[in-house]
Amino acid sequence: MEAYILDAVRTPRARARPGKGALSGLHPQELLAQTLKQLPLRTGVDVADLDDVVVGVVSQIEAQGANLARNALLAAGWPIGIPGFSLNRFCGSGLQALSLAAMGVASGVQHLVVAGGVEQMSRYGLNADGGGTDGGNVDLRRRFFQVPQGISADLIATLEGFTRQELDAFGLRSQQLAARAQAEGRFQRSLFPVTHPQTGEVLLAVDDHPRPDTTAEKLAALTPSFIQLGARPEGPAGETLDELALRAYPRAGAVRHLHTAGTSSGIADGAGAVLVASKDYLRAHGLKPRARVRAVSAVGSDPVLMLTGPAVAARKALDAAGLKPRDIDLWEINEAFAAVVLQTMRALELDLERVNVNGGAIALGHPLGATGSILVGTALDELERRGQSLALVTLCTSGGQAVAAVLERV
Ligand SMILES: CC(C)(COP(=O)(O)OP(=O)(O)OC[C@H]1O[C@@H](n2cnc3c(N)ncnc32)[C@H](O)[C@@H]1OP(=O)(O)O)[C@@H](O)C(=O)NCCC(=O)NCCS
Repeated sequence: MEAYILDAVRTPRARARPGKGALSGLHPQELLAQTLKQLPLRTGVDVADLDDVVVGVVSQIEAQGANLARNALLAAGWPIGIPGFSLNRFCGSGLQALSLAAMGVASGVQHLVVAGGVEQMSRYGLNADGGGTDGGNVDLRRRFFQVPQGISADLIATLEGFTRQELDAFGLRSQQLAARAQAEGRFQRSLFPVTHPQTGEVLLAVDDHPRPDTTAEKLAALTPSFIQLGARPEGPAGETLDELALRAYPRAGAVRHLHTAGTSSGIADGAGAVLVASKDYLRAHGLKPRARVRAVSAVGSDPVLMLTGPAVAARKALDAAGLKPRDIDLWEINEAFAAVVLQTMRALELDLERVNVNGGAIALGHPLGATGSILVGTALDELERRGQSLALVTLCTSGGQAVAAVLERV
């Protein structure tokens, strides 16, 4: 695939708190607009050349509705001739935006595209669009009862035989690696400080979601997060969510509720953007890219188990690039839940030393539509820091899908 990344930027991820989160007072269009504005500043490209602005955002309602992409580029003061559209592939939306941008330029149809993502979960938390997992389609629900992600994560942990200690150890690792990365400034290249649109006051300059004082003891003391959810009688005949999960996977015997706030991705606000260019555009403007998008993929997987797609998506992208898992220097597997990463690592026989080396969404938070584009920058920054070549970014999504992209430094 001939598609190149000129640069990737992101906001810090802010702990989501209605009215109180560091980024909760900004309109989400403004949050993205500030992110977009960084790209021409850093690369020197003329935004009038842009063929499109593609933005992932999951809860497309109210302030996040009205085609956020187009409004954000207008808010950025960019020319009215630039089009923009918003997409939703749940948690994979930000990486899906990159895939579309890469496909657009690789096909020769487009030459310069911004791929971004944003989610302000302080205002719009999980399922804020009211659609639930299946839009309330009772006919579909008879065939696939799609339990919420937390139940899926606990079901995966049960089926894979992961222990609470293993999940907690992964949660602790995420916090420790994120703390080290922050202390060593490993996120600095992608990050920019978000400011108040009127006063210019810095609202947030670094990720404020991590809990660096996390210990194994504190994690072990946390109550599992999804016990009550699992006991909710939401089935057509009053079955609980746990019973519905077990109906699809009777061999689990019982859903062991193991994930806690310390081993689940955090609810956060944030935005990211990636500038993608064709080879012709680079040549015509004498620009040097940071990386090439070698391959992208999207797959569907079991809609009940829901979160086991990343290994399948990664294999598909690796096959397209003619690579094997062992060829990848750095993996960014979105930490939706600890079990998701552990299951992906087991399925692909990955070495922990190469996976989420600067922590992930458990420590840093997961602003749903933004995370995919944020992880692109995280992976590139670390490849450059280490002088390595290949990264693979993958995210599971609600409804049993996953997306992946193979990135190569140039
Ligand atoms: C798991 C989940 C329900 C937890 O929500 P929550 O209980 O509101 O979690 P919080 O992060 O506010 O933590 C609650 C408390 O747990 C404790 N805690 C959380 N993380 C901790 C850690 N790493 N170490 C020690 N204590 C911790 C704290 O006491 C915290 O309270 P405080 O903020 O007042 O200090 C929520 O984060 C969630 O739904 N995550 C998944 C999101 C998701 O599904 N995304 C899509 C993925 S596919």
